[in-house]
Amino acid sequence: MARITAGVATSHVPLLGVAHDQGKERDAYFGPIFAGYDWTRDWEKAEQPDVVILVYNDHASAFDMKIIPTFAIGCGERYRPADEGWGPRPVPDVIGHPDLAWHIAQSLILDEFDMTIINEMDVDHGLTVPLSMMFGKVDAWPVRVIPLAVNVVTYPPPSGNRCWALGEAIARAVASFPEDLNVQVWGTGGMSHQLQGQRAGLINRDWDNRFMDGMIGESDHLRHIPHIEYLRETGSEGIELVMWLIMRGSLGAATRLLHRHYHVPCSNTAIGHIVLAPATPSNGD
Ligand SMILES: [Fe+2]
Repeated sequence: MARITAGVATSHVPLLGVAHDQGKERDAYFGPIFAGYDWTRDWEKAEQPDVVILVYNDHASAFDMKIIPTFAIGCGERYRPADEGWGPRPVPDVIGHPDLAWHIAQSLILDEFDMTIINEMDVDHGLTVPLSMMFGKVDAWPVRVIPLAVNVVTYPPPSGNRCWALGEAIARAVASFPEDLNVQVWGTGGMSHQLQGQRAGLINRDWDNRFMDGMIGESDHLRHIPHIEYLRETGSEGIELVMWLIMRGSLGAATRLLHRHYHVPCSNTAIGHIVLAPATPSNGD
């Protein structure tokens, strides 16, 4: 059977894609940022996942104000890097896993999550930057990818609780797929950041780190953070963090920390990265 073996979360700051593509990963500014991903690159080489369910948001590349799906799943064979204004990133096409994706779509919809199904789209930095951070420069991505897009751009985004529950439903879907596949779930976006207005540049180091603390272990209190708290504490774009909760929900009742990285600044944001494995809940000892 297919099984979820780990969860990865990371910011998907577009500037990291530029630094990566221009070979600046080890310069004075970007060095400390990329160094926090060295552990994960080695770990991914050892883990060799077959499929990544990559939770991200589109930034007006595949969707715009004409259509705004709350939750959408990519069931296509292949996705090309989007042109976000400077030409497509020079990274490989993203190869999907239609059989597993359609299985998950069916399972989620029958589980009462009304997913939008996408068979053709381009994927922007929200999806390709995390792949670059985890796998570096490659001729072909070493995993199949199922894009799972979440609306965190236009109000109202889904609640953290709904995202967590979607992660739980994804776990049920994967566990009922008969092929023996090593599946990871990635949640991307965040951490605290605001790109416009009087509070542009807002970074909340304490809140970000408390959020990362909450991803570890048995607690599920993060699912109950209201939108207004994200807005107040993490700026207008910090709501992207609800996508981390889809990953967290997919790992079950308890998690074990494998790796953690936090750095300020990256562009005008804080970046965070965490790697988790499912764990057996304690018996209260
Ligand atoms: Fe984003």
